[in-house]
Amino acid sequence: MSNHVRLYEVGPRDGLQNEARIISVEHKVGLIRALVQAGLKDIEVGSFVSEKWVPQMANTDRVLAGLDYRGGVNYAVLVPNMKGFEAWREARAPLPRIPGEIAVFVAASEGFSKANLNCTIAESLERVRPVIEAAQAEGVKVRGYVSCVTDCPFDGPTAPEAVADVVARLCEIAEMPISLGDTIGKGTPERVQSMLRAVKAHVPAGRLAGHFHDTGGQALANIEAALEEGLRVFDTAVGGLGGCPYAPGAPGNVATEAVMDRLEALGYETGLDRAAIARAATIAKSMRGRA
Ligand code: HMG
Ligand code: MG
Repeated sequence: MSNHVRLYEVGPRDGLQNEARIISVEHKVGLIRALVQAGLKDIEVGSFVSEKWVPQMANTDRVLAGLDYRGGVNYAVLVPNMKGFEAWREARAPLPRIPGEIAVFVAASEGFSKANLNCTIAESLERVRPVIEAAQAEGVKVRGYVSCVTDCPFDGPTAPEAVADVVARLCEIAEMPISLGDTIGKGTPERVQSMLRAVKAHVPAGRLAGHFHDTGGQALANIEAALEEGLRVFDTAVGGLGGCPYAPGAPGNVATEAVMDRLEALGYETGLDRAAIARAATIAKSMRGRA
């Protein structure tokens, strides 16, 4: 099996979306350019969601306008509904014609679905269906997220079968890569393993990504468990961006640099430039926790 692992950088989106202070377009673009310099090929740069729900992401159209499209980097954005898809399409209209990627997101628990999307899981799947179909019709890549794959902040532990069921229903709409989110960082390697074994009954490991938040300090161990299950894509955030804006220094997404170091110690390679990642991490850390 390949020893190459792809790190999918989510810092500019998942990391920054929790920051209370609105970060300027220039600062975000500077971070993304530093990530490109470090060799990252997949970077989630923002979201086209409701400004009332996530004010930090409201400048994503201008972030897209500030990026360099010559290096073949996949700049992805989150899109919750057709309104978001149309806003993304409009933002892209004046930009160079590259395929681009959108990510749709649903949850494996009803409590989180309600809190994050204001609808049930079944409703969320119907809401993303036209987005996926429109993207496919236009040759746009689609990624799917499933949140709360081990635990939900409202409903408690998530059964592996519940995750497998939502993954299967999402993949019935279309075959796509699926990122499995331990949204609140409560998973453990054993539970991650059980969850992945249930999901792999529907989707091969080669189409799955691990998305671990490091709240419980288990993210690196969970990544090792996922490697054992055959996963080779992990979502990470440079500088460990994310966490609670009211608790400076609280852990967010697992840090790109920490994952890179662990992978190399285990004999995997990422193709990233460690010194350049460290420079991006310095920029990322300058954005954190100044509410
Ligand atoms: P709603 O209030 O039920 O929707 O929110 P609505 O259709 O009634 O719209 C409410 C208002 O939002 C309206 O404006 C709409 O026009 C507007 P108003 O009439 O009040 O002025 N609106 C939009 N504006 C901009 N872009 C849009 C859009 N859609 C509606 N796309 C909605 C439903 C889905 C919009 C809302 O719940 C939402 O935006 N949720 C997003 C929440 C979010 O971004 N969460 C973080 C990302 S997910 C995540 O972090 C997990 C992940 O990292 C994996 C993991 O860790 O597990 C991916
Ligand atoms: Mg996340």
